[in-house]
Amino acid sequence: MQIFPFDIDHADRALTLDKAVFHLARGQLVAMPTETVYGLAGDATNGEAVARIFETKMRPQFNPLIAHVSGLEMAKTIGMFDDVSAALAAEFWPGPLTLVVTRNPAGGIHELVSAGLETIAIRCPRGAARELIAAFGAALAAPSANRSGRISPTSAKHITTEFGDKDILVLDGGDCSVGIESTIASVEKGQIKLLRAGAISMEQLAQSTGLNVNLVNAGSKIVAPGQLSSHYAPRAKVRLACKAKQQPGAMLAFGPGHEGELNLSVKADLREAAANLYRHLRALDERGVETICVTAIPETGLGIAINDRLRRAAAPRSLDGEQS
Ligand code: TXA
Ligand code: MG
Repeated sequence: MQIFPFDIDHADRALTLDKAVFHLARGQLVAMPTETVYGLAGDATNGEAVARIFETKMRPQFNPLIAHVSGLEMAKTIGMFDDVSAALAAEFWPGPLTLVVTRNPAGGIHELVSAGLETIAIRCPRGAARELIAAFGAALAAPSANRSGRISPTSAKHITTEFGDKDILVLDGGDCSVGIESTIASVEKGQIKLLRAGAISMEQLAQSTGLNVNLVNAGSKIVAPGQLSSHYAPRAKVRLACKAKQQPGAMLAFGPGHEGELNLSVKADLREAAANLYRHLRALDERGVETICVTAIPETGLGIAINDRLRRAAAPRSLDGEQS
């Protein structure tokens, strides 16, 4: 593994970008910072590179990947955009929104990316990742850069923990600003289906399109395997809506009045809590705690996405092979 600093003002940026592009062109993987979490990126047109992603993550092959693009123009070459999907892309890209659209079979994206589905998930990330895609000139397939079923990485250091021994070039762009994965949505029959909650809220999607937005819940037919129950899991057991510390365990607090405990946001700011969520879960895992007791988090705005991840982290872990 090689780690290269990739801050916005870093002197060797152009050289590093060249190295990363070269690495991708050889079918190798690059860990890239996006605004949500770090992605493990490979050339989406190269079947071997895509297979290497699945292999490195130990991810079941039926679980499809998101194709990352530099903008709507590139997106339209790989997927068929209806008017509403195109309008959503125009409003929220670059940003934490993934759109599932009909795949363009002539778009050059390897079939393994969408794991045999007729649809393809596409997103245009903010920041360094977008620069990398633009420099590479083609879409990058990129799941979160963690071993399947584990916590998504929000800093370059986390990637070392996950994949220290692998041939991965890591672009270190510091901490991810959003901290949880993108919202995934698809437009179907004049409605929007929310396949995964994220930083772009249901209200924002509804307001932007004037359409109804329906959350596809875990009980219904699974369309995004990220909806499977055990997911985003630390090693420790997770308990939700805890009031007081439960022994043996560590508290993960939200809001004021929990002095001395690790806190997602002392000022009860959901955005700050989302950005801290995975980092704090990892920190508690590193301490070797048996149980993580999380205090209640309001089920509003970004709290919906945070609680969604926490419920999956707390779910029984028997679904081997059904995680991303
Ligand atoms: O924020 C993010 O979305 C991050 C960064 C790296 O961009 N990526 C990410 O990828 O979270 P991943 O692979 O960990 O999660 C992608 C989710 C999976 O739950 C997958 O099942 C779903 O997207 N997905 C991919 N293609 C799909 C499709 N055609 N239809 C429905 N769901 C799909
Ligand atoms: Mg993931």
